[in-house]
Amino acid sequence: MTTIRIIDTEEARAAIPDLCEVLADCIHGGASVGFMLPFAPKDGETYWQEIAGAVEKGGIILAVAEVEGKVVGTVQVGLASKPNQPHRGDLMKLLVHRSARGLGLSRRLMDVVEAEAARRGRTLLVLDTATGSDAEKIYPRFGWERVGVIPDYAMWPEGGFCGTTLFYKRVG
Ligand SMILES: CC(C)(COP(=O)(O)OP(=O)(O)OC[C@H]1O[C@@H](n2cnc3c(N)ncnc32)[C@H](O)[C@@H]1OP(=O)(O)O)[C@@H](O)C(=O)NCCC(=O)NCCS
Repeated sequence: MTTIRIIDTEEARAAIPDLCEVLADCIHGGASVGFMLPFAPKDGETYWQEIAGAVEKGGIILAVAEVEGKVVGTVQVGLASKPNQPHRGDLMKLLVHRSARGLGLSRRLMDVVEAEAARRGRTLLVLDTATGSDAEKIYPRFGWERVGVIPDYAMWPEGGFCGTTLFYKRVG
């Protein structure tokens, strides 16, 4: 059975081994998501501990997709903390393990996290994603508006610069 849900701090901490595997698999698949190769699942532990800490402080909404209780996908919305942006969130780290792609999990993850962001008053969401990636192609299918490209913004996991494409969406 597949479940998509928002998780709390304790659930996030318990899910760290699975989240590490998902992150490492995506990086090995060529996704530019903040990290470089070589990258082993354990290299993501500090990052996911920080995310669990941010969930505890109320700064991040974390959603997961589980198949038979194992996390195979995730996405998050960081809640902008500036006093003049109480309505904004940053959509980040939409990740689906390669073994679970093409099943509609990313669409369901986006639906759930966007709805929760809207419920918390975050009606304007923004994201950036590697130009030329599969993810860049799918955000318009989810109703996101493409803003433009910043060249040479980051690097691919194996090296070499990649641009980033900016998107936004009004939700709620
Ligand atoms: C991008 C990613 C999350 C998609 O996950 P997924 O669960 O396989 O996607 P879904 O099955 O929900 O497909 C969503 C939609 O995109 C389409 N799609 C999926 N993969 C696609 C591809 N490679 N090219 C074009 N369209 C694609 C699907 O047809 C579907 O469209 P529809 O709902 O209108 O029919 C996944 O490929 C991934 O984790 N990539 C690596 C990490 C990454 O780059 N994340 C983005 C960080 S910003």
